[in-house]
Amino acid sequence: MSDGNVADAIPASLPLRNDLVGEVPYGAPQLNVPVCLNVNENPYSPAPEVIDAIVERVRVAAKGLNRYPDREHMELRGKLADYLRAESHAELTPEQLWAANGSNEIMLQLFQAFGGPGRTALGFAPTYSMYPEYARDTFTTWDTVARNDDFSLNMETALAAIHTVKPAIVLITSPNNPTGTPLSHDEARQILDACAEVSVEGADPSAHPVVVIDEAYVEFRNPGVDSVAPLIAQYDHLAVSRTLSKAFAYAGARVGYLAANKAIIDSVRIVRMPYHLSALTQAAALAALEHADVQLAQVSHLRDVRNDTATWLATQTYKGQALKVAESQSNFLLFGGIFDDREAIFKGLLDRGILIRVVGPDGWLRVCMGTDEEMAAFRTGLGEVLREVESR
Ligand SMILES: Cc1ncc(COP(=O)(O)O)c(C=O)c1O
Repeated sequence: MSDGNVADAIPASLPLRNDLVGEVPYGAPQLNVPVCLNVNENPYSPAPEVIDAIVERVRVAAKGLNRYPDREHMELRGKLADYLRAESHAELTPEQLWAANGSNEIMLQLFQAFGGPGRTALGFAPTYSMYPEYARDTFTTWDTVARNDDFSLNMETALAAIHTVKPAIVLITSPNNPTGTPLSHDEARQILDACAEVSVEGADPSAHPVVVIDEAYVEFRNPGVDSVAPLIAQYDHLAVSRTLSKAFAYAGARVGYLAANKAIIDSVRIVRMPYHLSALTQAAALAALEHADVQLAQVSHLRDVRNDTATWLATQTYKGQALKVAESQSNFLLFGGIFDDREAIFKGLLDRGILIRVVGPDGWLRVCMGTDEEMAAFRTGLGEVLREVESR
């Protein structure tokens, strides 16, 4: 594996877009270390039944590779609707679903359709670091409102910003990355109701913002915490982005999807590349959905690991103070909050073969849930690093 962040300087003789000069490709380091807990992947491989189903479906699809794939991927959209009905109690038709190469592509398509010059997307920081890149790539202005100290949305400033900024897109991650914070139905409704009253800067006066809720990690939520997908029935401007990368352990397959009113899906269909979803990707996605129960089997275990790890982290100390742990409904935890040199903690773990992520506000670090063995290594490693700091 290579470090995707290393970029050679682009010669000035190339007419690179002015706003891209000095930019580097986005990506967490992909280092060859024994314990990788840095990019919020599912640590478990796809189940054997799923691997067999992929091989079988790809074999069938391979026979038709001389033809372009079904660009409307209707079979897959139908299966995604079935999945959301079972998982989130959302009643949606296949026309209200849409898939792409990861939710990264879904989000880019949403920005292409609703962003653009003179328009703003509003997010709530700290949040997923790719959003400013979708904005940059679509010439959309990216604006953020700070979350509360516990990383929940500050509803007062959020609602005020919607009225003053008049964004084309309001983008909320739930559970949020890197904090794990969920969005309640009540909060979502307040945002959606506010957006229904606000016009969009740079659009037809009758236009209202689209509210995009990125639910990449939603399957890891505790019982009693809801997905916002059922609210699509009441809110025409709600778009829910999801992925098979995380709970489905399918990051390498690159399958994300969108659930929304048909008019939002039709808008995205205008900007998609022709035949954007290969026949092989569609085959692999169908194989996973066909075995959703098996494929999601590790989710409840990872949820328990997250809850246990959060409890354990809160018992650890740094320079005499207990570590803080952000409440997480995701497969990762943001912890620390008091590290005056978080890079040193990160490096201490890396020296022990454990890769986590320096992300979020200063003083915090993020760790993603791994296998039981990987989490045991993380606890041993972090314990040693913290004791080293203590003894200095
Ligand atoms: C909040 C959030 N949204 C979207 C993604 C992208 O996921 P995908 O693999 O579906 O492109 C990630 C990936 O880490 C993420 O953290």
